[in-house]
Amino acid sequence: MTAYDLFLKNHSSYATTHPLDALRASEYARLDTRDHVYLDFTGGGLYAASQVREHAQMLSEQVLGNPHSVNPSSMEMTRRVEQARASVLDYFNGTGEYTAIFTLNASGALKLVGESYPFARGARLLLSTDNHNSVNGIREFALRAGASVSYAPLTRPELRIDMPAMEALLAQVDGAHANLMAFPAQSNFSGVKHPLELVASARAAGWHVLLDAAAFVPTNRLDLRAVSPDFVVMSFYKMFGYPTGVGCLLVRNETLQSLQRPWFGGGTVNFATVQGRMHVLSGGEAGFEDGTLNYLSIPAVELGLRHLQQVGMETIRTRIHCLTDWLIKQLLALRHGNGRPMVRLYGPANMVERGGTVTLNLYDPEGHLVDYRRVEELAAQQNISLRTGCFCNPGAGETAEDLSEDDMRAGLAEAGADINLQRFLHVMQDRGGKSAGAIRVSMGLASNFADVERFMRFASGFREQTALTIGTVSFDIASCRVVRDGG
Ligand SMILES: Cc1ncc(COP(=O)(O)O)c(C=O)c1O
Repeated sequence: MTAYDLFLKNHSSYATTHPLDALRASEYARLDTRDHVYLDFTGGGLYAASQVREHAQMLSEQVLGNPHSVNPSSMEMTRRVEQARASVLDYFNGTGEYTAIFTLNASGALKLVGESYPFARGARLLLSTDNHNSVNGIREFALRAGASVSYAPLTRPELRIDMPAMEALLAQVDGAHANLMAFPAQSNFSGVKHPLELVASARAAGWHVLLDAAAFVPTNRLDLRAVSPDFVVMSFYKMFGYPTGVGCLLVRNETLQSLQRPWFGGGTVNFATVQGRMHVLSGGEAGFEDGTLNYLSIPAVELGLRHLQQVGMETIRTRIHCLTDWLIKQLLALRHGNGRPMVRLYGPANMVERGGTVTLNLYDPEGHLVDYRRVEELAAQQNISLRTGCFCNPGAGETAEDLSEDDMRAGLAEAGADINLQRFLHVMQDRGGKSAGAIRVSMGLASNFADVERFMRFASGFREQTALTIGTVSFDIASCRVVRDGG
């Protein structure tokens, strides 16, 4: 029985996802043509060939100009941008309740919230420790306005939000002010799906809630009638690969009124005078879309959403569930000859409330950490795209490695003013071999069994390798054997 047969036997629902194999052959053929194992879907999704074709066709057939004027090229563009906006609201079931603001990416959407939220002395910003840096950065706006910032911790080893601690922090709402709580629907570090019920409970406790959906929506449905945060952010390239340069902030209409933009610019005002030194901000999304939108790319968002709908989110979820389950089990079973585990997994070791992002480090037979940067280099030699580092999510990484405040302070002091992740990593390795980074493999709608199997063959090539000599080896993936450099 082949590994694939065994996989199918143990994951019978995978058979229902076979249409994705045909899709891979027709729409993502470049993966196999180039013999490329793409395992960085949390970094960026892959686009179907037809998305690019249809978009290119539209561009080549239409005369499209800068929107918001009454000349025909402008009107046609305005119509297409608004059609894309309507399709986003429709896709997330937010029509009528939400406003969709196009941004450059999820970070741009987060910055809009940060700079416009009415933080004030006495107000609170509450963040889960698991957050992307573009969410963490909102704390700078809060602190500048005199608001207090708290972090809800994560449990170890699963890296889930510590719910009793979160609830205690939620109870500290200051009713006299606007208070904001932010968490990711799915972690870009561990793949954990945090409970979406938290949105309703935090809102009921008097908080505005910002849901970072960037890592969640590529493989999950978000229904804004069922889960209704005040703010939702995302980047469309993570959902369907193309276009880059377009993200979205979805805001509840009632919450939009409480935002205060700190400036105005082209396109965001109904009226502005130099002599009179005053301006009137445009209503709705227009007041938040600075300057000229990425208007030619925005219609491709509608094509991407349609593509996802045609593929079907349930099919994608099922496939990723099966592949991730297999991968985690295989990784945890990897042992050196002396019986020691080769892999340390961060986050849930099962499929309960988790997605297809798997983060790990490799260890040698003596338990020494294998430098993840070398792992990435070796993977690249095998045409495997994975990601290493801290994934812009320091809180989850610190909790995963049990890095304490003391560790962080010592690291900062020793590494000095020109600190970066590499220098910090050195200091941490001197402090009990802790790591400040990891290896991340993430799956998406174009993934198949061959991809994860190839990665497993690669990972098993580290068996019996000592961390110190790994700098001088290469792997032959076909035989899973180590080849000395120059040999
Ligand atoms: C959970 C999460 N939030 C926010 C972001 C920021 O997205 P972008 O870089 O597209 O602004 C990312 C990107 O990796 C992410 O994974």
